[in-house]
Amino acid sequence: MAIIPPHIVDDIMQNSRIEEVIGEFVQLKRAGSNLKGLSPFTDEKTPSFVVSPAKQIFKCFSTGKGGTVVSFLMEKEHYSYPEALRWLAEKYGIQLPEDKPATAEELAAISERESLHIINEFAKDHFKNNLHKSDEGKKIALSYLVERGFRPDIIEKFQLGYSINKSDTFTSTALEKGYKLEYLEKVGVSKVKDNRSFDFFRGRVMFPIHSVTGRILGFGGRTLFTDKKIAKYFNSPESIIYNKSEILYGLHFSKSDIIKYDNCFLCEGYTDVISMYQAGIKNVVSSSGTSLTREQIRLVKRYTKNITILYDGDAAGIKASFRGIDLILEEGLNVKVVLFPEGEDPDSYSKAVSSSDLEDYINKNQQDFISFKAGILLETEENDPIKKATLIKDLAHSVSLIPDQITRNVFIPELAKRFNIKEEVIWNEVTKYRNEAATKEQKEARRRQNSHSNTQSYSSQNNSASIDNRGSFDAKFDPYSHEPSPFKDTPDLPIEILDDHNEHDLMRILVLYGPMAINLEQIGEKGEKTLLETSVTEYICSSLDEDELSFDNPAFASMYQFINDSLEENTFLKPDFFKSQLDQKIVKFVSEIEMNKHELSHNWITKHSIFTNSEQDKLKEAVLGSIYSFKSSKVEKRIKEIQKNLIKLGPEITSEELMELLSEQVALEQIKKAISVQLGRIIIH
Ligand code: CTP
Ligand code: MN
Repeated sequence: MAIIPPHIVDDIMQNSRIEEVIGEFVQLKRAGSNLKGLSPFTDEKTPSFVVSPAKQIFKCFSTGKGGTVVSFLMEKEHYSYPEALRWLAEKYGIQLPEDKPATAEELAAISERESLHIINEFAKDHFKNNLHKSDEGKKIALSYLVERGFRPDIIEKFQLGYSINKSDTFTSTALEKGYKLEYLEKVGVSKVKDNRSFDFFRGRVMFPIHSVTGRILGFGGRTLFTDKKIAKYFNSPESIIYNKSEILYGLHFSKSDIIKYDNCFLCEGYTDVISMYQAGIKNVVSSSGTSLTREQIRLVKRYTKNITILYDGDAAGIKASFRGIDLILEEGLNVKVVLFPEGEDPDSYSKAVSSSDLEDYINKNQQDFISFKAGILLETEENDPIKKATLIKDLAHSVSLIPDQITRNVFIPELAKRFNIKEEVIWNEVTKYRNEAATKEQKEARRRQNSHSNTQSYSSQNNSASIDNRGSFDAKFDPYSHEPSPFKDTPDLPIEILDDHNEHDLMRILVLYGPMAINLEQIGEKGEKTLLETSVTEYICSSLDEDELSFDNPAFASMYQFINDSLEENTFLKPDFFKSQLDQKIVKFVSEIEMNKHELSHNWITKHSIFTNSEQDKLKEAVLGSIYSFKSSKVEKRIKEIQKNLIKLGPEITSEELMELLSEQVALEQIKKAISVQLGRIIIH
């Protein structure tokens, strides 16, 4: 997709009416020259959300959010900037140039997609009609749903339906209406065999599967027969509009509550989602029986960094689900797990108890992945030392997948405590796994680079990604993701330097929060405490100076030089300064962190694993944490160099050299320990 040209952006902005757009989401009442309503971002009882039609802006007084119609859509729907513009263009009938497809092929593909969507929409209405209007539907299916305790408003909301138990009721109706058999087949509602066409779904309760924006991509159909030979569910096949690994059932209905509660409940089935929703827990989705994919996790990540998995008490697949937990950790999300009592799933349990008991149960029984995994695996074999050792390794491996160092460091003592072993042992194990992964990644990157050497560089590819409107946005720009990083295009430096998260994080703080003030307690020589008020930049620079440290990534090194120089002149550099640099790596880095400013602010973890809303609130901790992680990684690097030297020198080494290297190593180990103690303090107090 091409860039939206500025004159069209202007056109969109001029035609959009903020009060109309927000009116689609919030009930607004006139209050003087403004409009007022309940904030869509919180749970408030008294309206504090104000829209000014004259100024075309909004302000939410309970969350502090505010801005233009575009900012509203970005906040409320979590659209990217181009996505928001496209939404508005569509609403106000403004033609976007790239909406005119270039080739006949593209045109055909688009009309095919559209056709499939239209057929699904038609099928949904047909199935709904069967459920509510036909005798068979009412007698068999509607009564079944009612008996299972689904409320009419919920049946309506999720657009449930029924497929008549005859060979071609749906297909013949659809053909009569003029829908093409080819498309009916492609979308999976009809089958063709020996020149005869018939319905794919028969005698089943139909669950439409919606995209995030509410379009119907496919169906799940639950049989009403008890015959064990009949598969309980039939699901639409994959098609150009339905990619199972990228869809979560229920997300369309749950996304605003996921944002509101900053958490997403993940369960296994359609009925689980619907029942939880009915019980008032609306921030819920399901992976619909398949194992969780990375794409699905990234989908959730657009709305929250917290996932709570809800398992059946007797789910056979619990062990298989460990892979899902690891994937969630690897994507940088936090994962909790709730196990339901034996024989209950979220659907049955939510109907067996009251809503408040359900909520209580979830709150009381949620555990972190360590105790969950340990609990399952050690159920019977707590005393088997070999099983226990395997489990500890397994858990250390899970911890090693967490991209954020500070979060990792929170789990290490936890794990040590759980099994009553030394923290160092876990540290070593986690480090080992991370090194292994880094080596693997490095090899991969080399392989990629070799096979790419004559093609486009990443930089131009990334440029196009930044204006892509398909939501690939977050993944590409998330510094913790494993997507190609914008820095990987400098071939002659090792990947560890170019992709060092600690350097990345510290520079991010310098650029975004440099001029802000922080208060720090300083302990003088005699142990007396003084309060020091300084700027973030000043503190970081002096702290790095003290240990003669700097940045290894060349782009960061030159940014740091600018920052240091301007500090001497008593000025602070704004992000815009960097964005006007010639070095595109700098420009990209700064745009990327600005873009992710909101998202990354959730990365900060406290003792209770509660995430603060704004990084500014925890600025001091963020600064200290980042400095210590930075320092500790530099120390780590030096230790590795020493070890390499020791190996390189081998038996040739003189005793002086040996002593020198070893004593430096010991000193560094002590520093490392001191740093991790300090780091621990920041996290734990
Ligand atoms: N599933 C499937 N095909 C099957 C069985 C299950 O696709 N043959 C998927 C469905 O998405 C289902 C989910 O796995 O929702 C969970 O399966 P299960 O727990 O067996 O079904 P429930 O959703 O609990 O259905 P019900 O409560 O009606 O038994
Ligand atoms: Mn069930």
